[in-house]
Amino acid sequence: MTSNLAGKRVWVVGASSGIGAATARTLVERGAHVAISARRDTELREVAGSAMTVAVADVADRASVDFAATQVREALGGIDMVIINAGFWEQMDATEWDRDLFERHVQVNLLGMNNCVGAVLPQMVADGAGTIVGVASVAGYRGLGGAEAYGATKAAQINMLEGMRVALRRKGVRVVTVCPGFVKTGLTESNTFPMPFLIEAGEAAESICRGLERGQMEIVFPVPMAALMKVARLLPVRLWALLFGRAT
Ligand SMILES: NC(=O)c1ccc[n+]([C@@H]2O[C@H](COP(=O)([O-])OP(=O)(O)OC[C@H]3O[C@@H](n4cnc5c(N)ncnc54)[C@H](OP(=O)(O)O)[C@@H]3O)[C@@H](O)[C@H]2O)c1
Repeated sequence: MTSNLAGKRVWVVGASSGIGAATARTLVERGAHVAISARRDTELREVAGSAMTVAVADVADRASVDFAATQVREALGGIDMVIINAGFWEQMDATEWDRDLFERHVQVNLLGMNNCVGAVLPQMVADGAGTIVGVASVAGYRGLGGAEAYGATKAAQINMLEGMRVALRRKGVRVVTVCPGFVKTGLTESNTFPMPFLIEAGEAAESICRGLERGQMEIVFPVPMAALMKVARLLPVRLWALLFGRAT
């Protein structure tokens, strides 16, 4: 059966490794025309082979994102969908507050998403068509010790994407929020804590592409982690602090 992603011009930002690289490959398999960005040129070219366009970009640098967006538009003839997946995670120690580490999370995860949205949205609004996909995390659902910076940026992304979805509903621009649970990638390889329901990047890519094909507004996976964190969202603050305090 032909995928409705076939023929779509998709720009995946943060695709030199992990979930982004796997998603880009899966999109190509589904017949999409794909362009990929990140900072590491060699890794991007390895992922792309001869099947994708490469445009190097640092999401923390607005000019570099704008330049890459122009390159992608020229190469693909337009952008139907952007998947904003670039991300940074490092565990924090709240007892030794590191302002630089916090700022780095904000620069890449939150301001990076802002830079990418700004690079594609005006054209999508003008065209009255397009899809913006933001990769956040279930870590944005509740405050997790050690993830004060990462979780804050992921919660902000979820909120930002939801607001955009509401505002752009009548403009023909769709907004999709992706919240993965734990995925085996470079981002998680140095984690020393247990990672329940850990999945491979290929499984994450499959979930993302299936959700996009179904027209979902929100794609949360894997199912057990999604269920756990959706329930966690409903718990009273005192109970959450008690439960998490015991778990750490
Ligand atoms: N792995 C998980 O368990 C998990 C769970 C929930 C959510 N996520 C989210 O999924 C997304 C992908 O993460 P991943 O697990 O696949 O990790 P990953 O393998 O480390 O991939 C991160 C990607 O982001 C790119 N990136 C980082 N900083 C960038 C910057 N300043 N400019 C442009 N690109 C940048 C990296 O490329 P360069 O280094 O080449 O720039 C890489 O392609 C992230 O947003 C992450 O928060 C991951």
